Amino acid sequence: MLAAAAAVNASTFDVTFSTAGHNVPSTLYGLMILITYSGDGGLYAELIQNRAFQQVTPGTSAALTAWAALGSAKISVVASSSPVSSALPNALSFAVPSGTTSTVGFTNSGYFGIPVTAGWTYTGSFYYRTPTPPSTKVSGSFTADLRSTSGTVFTSTTVPFTTSSTWQQATFTFTASSTQSAVTNLFALSVGGSTVAGLTMEFTLISLFPPTFNGRKNGFRMDLSETLLDMKPAFFRFPGGNNLEGETAADRWAWENTVGDLVDRPGRVGDWGYINTDGLGLYEYLQWIEDMDMQPIMAVYAGYSLNGASVASNDMQTYITEAINQINFVIGDASTNAQAAIRSSMGHPDPFTLNYIEIGNEDFFSPTTYADYRWADLYNALHAEFPQLHYIATSATSGNVPSLSPAPTYWDLHIYSNPNFFINGAYNFDILSRNGLQFFQGEYATTTENSGAALTYPFIDGSIAEAAYMAGFDRNSDIVFAASYAPLLNHVSSTQWTPDLITFSPNTVIRSTSYYVQQLYSLYKGDFYLTSTTNTASSPVQWSVTRDTSAGQYFLKVINTATSANTVVFTLPFTPSHTTGTGTILTAASGTQNTPTNPNAAVPSSFSFTAGKTITYNAPGLSLSVLVVTA
Ligand code: AHR
Repeated sequence: MLAAAAAVNASTFDVTFSTAGHNVPSTLYGLMILITYSGDGGLYAELIQNRAFQQVTPGTSAALTAWAALGSAKISVVASSSPVSSALPNALSFAVPSGTTSTVGFTNSGYFGIPVTAGWTYTGSFYYRTPTPPSTKVSGSFTADLRSTSGTVFTSTTVPFTTSSTWQQATFTFTASSTQSAVTNLFALSVGGSTVAGLTMEFTLISLFPPTFNGRKNGFRMDLSETLLDMKPAFFRFPGGNNLEGETAADRWAWENTVGDLVDRPGRVGDWGYINTDGLGLYEYLQWIEDMDMQPIMAVYAGYSLNGASVASNDMQTYITEAINQINFVIGDASTNAQAAIRSSMGHPDPFTLNYIEIGNEDFFSPTTYADYRWADLYNALHAEFPQLHYIATSATSGNVPSLSPAPTYWDLHIYSNPNFFINGAYNFDILSRNGLQFFQGEYATTTENSGAALTYPFIDGSIAEAAYMAGFDRNSDIVFAASYAPLLNHVSSTQWTPDLITFSPNTVIRSTSYYVQQLYSLYKGDFYLTSTTNTASSPVQWSVTRDTSAGQYFLKVINTATSANTVVFTLPFTPSHTTGTGTILTAASGTQNTPTNPNAAVPSSFSFTAGKTITYNAPGLSLSVLVVTA
């Protein structure tokens, strides 16, 4: 049982607001990526884990992660004597003993399961060859299927093949006619043993996609995309986070390794203990961001990696050039720029939208080199080339402040803490000077209880504390231009960081209590913040009033961080056109969490209230309410 928040005596808070205020930036609430199988195994819809044996050591058992032999076949990962591409040197060797007659093949267990869903057409492909083919060609058919671990086949198709020493690509589809609640399913490729007895074949880039969001080839998982779309997020910060940096500079996320044909992408050793295919590459991110009606906040590697080492000053040019090329891939003219021409060849001749570039990630871990040369080298070069873009710095703004030159106008801050921090921090931005500096709260989350006990899933106490903190974003949205909870996604079967906004399995999505807080703030962001009487720091109750000007609607957010009810009396500068308003509330008993076994323990519900020039609202304990008033 999680510790309860402190109860306080119920009070009444008077809120008067006028029509004065400031614009709310359209970018205010968005998303950030990417750890704990949130890309591969998560958003990226590929179902086959370790599909191309990227970045593994041939001959080791780890190289066979997710693969198993069927029948008497022997499988191993080898360095192919004639690889399918220089980027994919390894292959699955499939050796069938002479005299075999029974079915042989191999299976893949997916990213901790494979969903089987009625009506879904799965699209598959693989490369194969026979390094030493028999003098008389052998032809036959593989069977590709989805099956249970006990061998019940749910859907299958045949895929013809002929032996050849050169790589051939096979493609196939099959459609499932039933939905399986269990995800412990396998993808299998099998063949009659007598057809291939005595042969050794190689396979690689064995791929299987379910239907994807917007029907994109090499696309994104539908349910996760739709869950995120339900938040109407304004931006997507990518490729990290730590995902940008790599353990060393050599392991960094290098955009050029993530574009073009899948066969030309080597993948990389990721920063969170697993290998990234980079099938989810720069183009796929941008296409999805466009499909989701977001805008990118795109990071470029800034010469700092997670081992703590910084690139030396005289080695920075490599990374400056890489960053310029990365930006040109996104917005360059495809008729004159080589990187933009790659984008065009992949299907997007027009530039993508790009306004914000983040220079590095958490460079406060290496503030001296950032201040001495890394920020300036990158900023000066990128700004000279792309003066229309906004550049975000990632060093600390307090404590051991590195003074950056040129002075940044955008700054990314990260904070992970406990509920009390976020309740007390609701005024953190109020005291900052209005000197042109714009803030990005690029990562924040309640990660522990007030006792310090770690959280596995967000709990209502922390989520409501985040809501109180976010009232500060609304109120200070003249200087806070963007904010994103972090991390975003967590595969329930392989967790590297908790808590996360959304937890998923191969066939379920669990929206946390913090998800609903983010969603309510985003949906009711408005375009204008109306100045109101403010509460005192450390108060249990926060509020914010914003307006959707064209709809003539006012959004009155009330956040009660106490466990007991509190009353807020709003005095409006107008008389509402309707005497009844509708509201949405997220509230639950202290300690409530949405978990895989109880995914809907706390979900928002709607209510109606009496609207007049004065609105009296009794906010339940631990609640975020949004009252919609029409002028
Ligand atoms: O959000 C999880 C990780 O926390 C991010 O990748 C990193 O930037 C931060 O340290």
